[in-house]
Amino acid sequence: MKTVLITGCSSGFGHETAKFFLEKGWKVIATMRSPKEGILPKHENLRVIALDVTNEDSIRQAIAEAGPIDALVNNAGIGLLNALEGVSVAAIREVFETNTIGTIAMTQAVLPQFRAKKSGVVVNVTSTVTLVPLPLLAVYTASKSAVNAFTESVALELEPFGVRMRIVLPGLAPTTKFSENAFAKMAPVPDAYKPTFDNVLAGFQNPGPVTHARDVAEAIFVAVTEPTSPMKIPAGADAVMWAEKVGMK
Ligand SMILES: NC(=O)c1ccc[n+]([C@@H]2O[C@H](COP(=O)([O-])OP(=O)(O)OC[C@H]3O[C@@H](n4cnc5c(N)ncnc54)[C@H](OP(=O)(O)O)[C@@H]3O)[C@@H](O)[C@H]2O)c1
Repeated sequence: MKTVLITGCSSGFGHETAKFFLEKGWKVIATMRSPKEGILPKHENLRVIALDVTNEDSIRQAIAEAGPIDALVNNAGIGLLNALEGVSVAAIREVFETNTIGTIAMTQAVLPQFRAKKSGVVVNVTSTVTLVPLPLLAVYTASKSAVNAFTESVALELEPFGVRMRIVLPGLAPTTKFSENAFAKMAPVPDAYKPTFDNVLAGFQNPGPVTHARDVAEAIFVAVTEPTSPMKIPAGADAVMWAEKVGMK
């Protein structure tokens, strides 16, 4: 039986992906910052471990506690919606610490065991905003585009050791806690950018096709289990549409 470790399982895509892998007969190590009874239904193949991807000690402890794994899913992430002039440098650092450095540090932490056994898969969850950029999401988009570039580059150095890297790109998923959390933490939008903000908000409120957590779980499963899957996999009806529009390979 194979084992997957997933970050950010307290809600949204990570939560759904943990349940999906259990359904498919995998052992799941679901990690979250503050584990609590009942966040995920009990299951004989489920272990829940505390992990904050911005904290090196937490990463070291979680990887040691997890033991051998076959796949890592770097899903934990936070959003940041505002004009660049409206965000603090501390908020910019927090987004990069979580989305970018967290993903890179987690990947680094599993490499010794993957390289030693000459197998392993790392799936990094980024976003379709890296394909079709939107205003007021510059910092978030930069944090995820950096993950795309990191993944494609490190994939080449890991290929000789049988380690695979993949990127899953979800579209807009209004039902996870992602947007709610980003709005809750949002600093006031500077007056000059209010018309742009109203436009972006109108787009979010009438999005057309969207992404569901199950779409992302399925795409992550394909990325992990199918060796011939493409490097970048769109997840969700809107994501597939954008990927086709930009001719994503
Ligand atoms: N929803 C969308 O529209 C959308 C679209 C494209 C891509 N994405 C990406 O998809 C991923 C999952 O997002 P989601 O929509 O499922 O949002 P979500 O419901 O807010 O889930 C995000 C998860 O990340 C965790 N997290 C945040 N900071 C963390 C840290 N420092 N260490 C460990 N875990 C941390 C959260 O845990 P806590 O409960 O501890 O905060 C939560 O479990 C993110 O990488 C996001 O950027 C989302």
